[in-house]
Amino acid sequence: MKLFTRTLILCLALALTNAAPSQPPDLAAEVAALPDRCAGIEFDAITPDEQGNTFFFKGGHLWKGFHGPAQPSNEIFKKLHDIHPLGHVDAAFRMHNAENPDDHDHIYFFVDDKVVRFYDQSLEDGYPKEMTEDFPGVPTHLDAAVECPKTECMTNTVLFFKGQDVYFYDLATKTVKTKTWSHLPQCTSAFRWLEHYYCFHGHNFTRFHPVSGEVTGNYPKDARNYFMKCPNFGHGGDHTVPKCSEVKLDAISTDDTGKTYFFAGSTYMRLDTSRDGLHGFPITRSWKELTNGVDAVFSYIDKIYLMKDDKVYIYKADAHYSLIEGYPKSLKEELGIEGHVDAAFLCPNEHTVHIIQGGRMRDVDLTATPRAITNDVPLPPHLSDIDAGLCGPDGVKVFKGSQFYLYESPKILATGRIIVEPQKITSAMMGCQD
Ligand SMILES: *[C@@H]1O[C@H](CO)[C@@H](O)[C@H](O)[C@H]1NC(C)=O
Repeated sequence: MKLFTRTLILCLALALTNAAPSQPPDLAAEVAALPDRCAGIEFDAITPDEQGNTFFFKGGHLWKGFHGPAQPSNEIFKKLHDIHPLGHVDAAFRMHNAENPDDHDHIYFFVDDKVVRFYDQSLEDGYPKEMTEDFPGVPTHLDAAVECPKTECMTNTVLFFKGQDVYFYDLATKTVKTKTWSHLPQCTSAFRWLEHYYCFHGHNFTRFHPVSGEVTGNYPKDARNYFMKCPNFGHGGDHTVPKCSEVKLDAISTDDTGKTYFFAGSTYMRLDTSRDGLHGFPITRSWKELTNGVDAVFSYIDKIYLMKDDKVYIYKADAHYSLIEGYPKSLKEELGIEGHVDAAFLCPNEHTVHIIQGGRMRDVDLTATPRAITNDVPLPPHLSDIDAGLCGPDGVKVFKGSQFYLYESPKILATGRIIVEPQKITSAMMGCQD
C-alpha cells in the first residue's frame, strides 16, 4: 500500500509538472506531495476531537472534516511527529471517560510502542510515554483504536485492534480482555460516529457492533461515498451549512430517549450528538415516507409524530424508525384538528400536545379518545406564524426565523403578558455559521 501511494504521488507530481508548466515549481511540488483521499487510500487513523471535528490521518498528513484537502498533521497537532521521524501514527482515539475530566475528550495517538496525548491541539506534559504506562496489557504497533462509552460497551472501554485480535481495555479496572474477530477485515483505523462503529480497511469500511463484532447490512462500503466528498462519489444528499441569520426551522423535537432533532426543508439534524459534530441528513434517511419535508413534529411516549399538510405520520422511536401500520392518517382523524400546523410541542411527562396554528394555540389531550381540542387560545401578536416549538426542562422555546423566545411554560407563553426578548440561534445550538 505504501509503495502504491508513493508511486501515485510521483505520477501526480509528473502529471502536474507536465500539465501546468506556468505554476511555480515549489508550489506544484507542495500540491503534488499532498495525498488525495478521493484516490482511494487507506487511513492510518481516524479520530474526532473535543469539538466534534473528525480527523483522518495518512502518513504525515491529515484531513480535517469530511471535505477539503490534506495538510501536514503537525500543522494542527504540533510536535506530533517529533516522536517519529517518518511521520505517521498507528492508531488514534478520543477518550470517553466523563467520570475523569482530566482524561475525557483528550486524544491519544499511538506510534510503535509510544503514546502521546493532546488536548486542545497541544501536546500534553509527560508525553510521549511508553504505551505500557498508560495502557498496560495492550500490544504495541497497533492497527487501530476506538472509544466505546459505557452506554454502548457496558463499561467505559477502548477497543484496540491488532491483526484479527481486538483488545478491550476497561478504563476503570485497567484490565484487558481479548477477542478474535476473524470475520472482520483487518482494520487499519476505527471510528465511532453517531453511536455507530466503523472499521476502515483499504478505501472501504465495515460497520460492526462494538461488543459482539457482529456485522449487519451490506459491507464493505466505499468510504468515498460516505465519509468524504469526492467527485463522482456520494449520494447527492449534500447539506450546505446555512448562516445562523438565515436559519428557518420547520420543526424541532426531543424524544423520550433524549434524541433531539430539528427539521428544515428536506434536511434533519440531530443535536444531542454534537460531540461528533452537527451533521445534516435527508429526512428520508430516517423517515422514508416524508419525501416533502415536515410542518411540525412532536414526541410522545415512544413515538414520534410528524405532520405534513393535513396528514400525521406516527413512527415507533426504536433504533430505526418504522411507520406504524395504518399511517399516515388525517389530522382530523388523529388529533381532531384541521388546517395547517405551524408548530407542535409536548412538555416532558405531560399528555397534552400544544399545537400552534397561525395566531392560535390549541391543546389536545392525547389520552382521550377520540381526540379533540380541549383549550383554544389566541397568541400574542408577536408570536403569530411560529415555525417550531420545543418544551424541555428549561421551558418552552418557540422559534421564528433565526430567533427564538423562551418561556417558562406553555401557559405563560399563551397569556403573553410577560414580554420576552427574542434570542438568536447560534452555531453551537444548530450547527449553522455564525
Ligand atoms: C472494497 O469493497 C468492494 C465491495 O464493496 C470490494 O469489491 C473491494 O475489493 C474492496 N476493496 C478493498 C481495498 O477492500
